[in-house]
Amino acid sequence: MDTASLEQRYRDRASTGWRGRLRRALEPPAPFIMNPREPKDFPLGRWNLYIGGAGRRVEGYVNLDLFAMPGVDVAADAEALPFPGETFLRVECDAVLEHVCDPARVMSEMTRVLAPGGYLHLVTPFCHPFHEYPKDYRRFTIDGLKQLAQGLEPVAEGWRTGPAATLLVVAIEFAKGLAPWRWWRGAAHVALGWLLFPLRYLDLWLLRTSRAGRIGNHCYLWVRKPASRA
Ligand SMILES: C[S@@+](CC[C@H](N)C(=O)[O-])C[C@H]1O[C@@H](n2cnc3c(N)ncnc32)[C@H](O)[C@@H]1O
Repeated sequence: MDTASLEQRYRDRASTGWRGRLRRALEPPAPFIMNPREPKDFPLGRWNLYIGGAGRRVEGYVNLDLFAMPGVDVAADAEALPFPGETFLRVECDAVLEHVCDPARVMSEMTRVLAPGGYLHLVTPFCHPFHEYPKDYRRFTIDGLKQLAQGLEPVAEGWRTGPAATLLVVAIEFAKGLAPWRWWRGAAHVALGWLLFPLRYLDLWLLRTSRAGRIGNHCYLWVRKPASRA
């Protein structure tokens, strides 16, 4: 996707015109629920970094994105973070690594700006349809995330969204793929989204089973940067 189309997508989402309001009124509930057992309470510091939050405010974080859209504090590439080393106690990288050219480079940059003893939260898709922001390069497993984060201590891992989420997002994309015209695809998105969303609650049970990761939707990994030795 080119940059202008992505920026237009963000503008459409924030639009207060009648089309924007109609789209938001019809928008079905998300086809997933978040795993309630994913930990979120690792410490925040005076400075925390959120990567990839274009189009929304992220309280308590410096919000960095490739695009200078509303809510973004710093427009920059995560492959070259414009901050001194050891600045942030927490770094959030949620659904971004699949969109960067060089995830190892981004990991090395996040590790550099993380303070000793600080926490990095990675979330990435495993079974999820193609989606460009502005590109979509790859998918990850938990083991793949751990390999990328070598040198940092894993403190928590698991599945954020499970097999039911995968089933729903794929079913909706499949139906949209059958539709020959754009407005049919919009209608399929709205109709199937409303019809199928209650199935998302199956993940409350499936995420407790050992097989959830076979076709899990998004996985997470929390890692800690070792405190520097005196
Ligand atoms: C799927 S969205 C993330 C959604 C976000 N976590 C949220 O919950 O709203 C991916 C974001 O990463 C940004 N992005 C992609 N490549 C990037 C890069 N190299 N550096 C910084 N941001 C990037 C995109 O512009 C987009 O806003």
